[in-house]
Amino acid sequence: MVNQDELKKMAATEALKYIKSGMSVGLGTGSTVKFFLEGLSLLVKDGMKITGVPTSVETARIARTLGITVNDEFTGKIDIDVDGADEIDPSGNLIKGGGGALLREKIVASNSSMVIIIADEMKLKEEFIGAFKVPVEVFPFLHRNTIARIEELGGKCHLRNNGNFVTDNGNLVADCDFGMIKDPARLESMIKLIPGVAEVGIFTSLCDMIILGTPGGHRTIKIKKV
Ligand code: 5RP
Repeated sequence: MVNQDELKKMAATEALKYIKSGMSVGLGTGSTVKFFLEGLSLLVKDGMKITGVPTSVETARIARTLGITVNDEFTGKIDIDVDGADEIDPSGNLIKGGGGALLREKIVASNSSMVIIIADEMKLKEEFIGAFKVPVEVFPFLHRNTIARIEELGGKCHLRNNGNFVTDNGNLVADCDFGMIKDPARLESMIKLIPGVAEVGIFTSLCDMIILGTPGGHRTIKIKKV
């Protein structure tokens, strides 16, 4: 029996093959990315030169502890971004933000030439995403009104940790249940249009490649972006 951590590590290890010396590397957030950071630190110790662009304070802290150079103020296109996800559909649409880092994760992904998502195979859904509640980062100011407007789109939202979860950006996270999401791109843009929303954890047209850990070995899915 292969456990979930071994599957995460398998995906992370495969993603390391895409990292070359001299690259700028978006560093995602979460337990799967932690395995990637550990592997990356070994490459750095062997002489690889990379600049990490962290998607959270926690990732920056882990990376620095492991001896990986990080730059929070990177300018220009990031060569490659490696991040995890909470749910993935076969077209590469994602739900992210389980760790609350969705805003910086989306900024880094959208500024990267290539985005690789690493996960255990349980994260890949056969058809639609939506079993995992959609995290939405909202500004604290009038946040109840913002959440009411998100709910007008058909979701049922709960403030994470009763409002005691605060993101790296000083905002709150509402976890919103929309059921199965048939049109993720449309829902993403509808939520994003609401004033008071900082970011929504639906990621469409950003992922280039998914690497899954499976009991039979890693599985790579290349995504053709629309
Ligand atoms: C954090 C994220 C993570 O990538 C997502 O929650 C997956 O985490 P894990 O690898 O621990 O399952 O979006 O905001």
